[in-house]
Amino acid sequence: MIGRLNHVAIAVPDLTAAADQYRGALGASVGPAIAQPAHGVTVIFVELPNTKIEFLHPLGDDSPIAKFLEKNPAGGIHHICYEVEDIIAARDQLTASGARVLGDGTPKIGAHNKPVLFLHPKDFQGCLIELEEV
Ligand code: CO
Repeated sequence: MIGRLNHVAIAVPDLTAAADQYRGALGASVGPAIAQPAHGVTVIFVELPNTKIEFLHPLGDDSPIAKFLEKNPAGGIHHICYEVEDIIAARDQLTASGARVLGDGTPKIGAHNKPVLFLHPKDFQGCLIELEEV
């Protein structure tokens, strides 16, 4: 069902420092900071030849990233995102197999303006998984 790795998301305490490091020390192609108030995050995408890295930083008072950074003050991998062709079919198949979808199970429009869902980390080896329809 799952296709390509779309991105790995890293929660970072300092977006500018992360962007400078990836641009400088790692020589990566780093995009601009984009505020996404609906998701409570500011994001920066790093384009790699085969996938993307997504830096996440809290935005606003109720950010889903704030608690993660409290527990991981130096930052850390927050989620990985796999591509799926049909997100409703993927959701139905996964919930039928017993996996939990976060929220009410309705896909939201994600950082790339495509429908996304998140799967409970306890059902997937301790890793929060995002599915993105492409
Ligand atoms: Co993501």
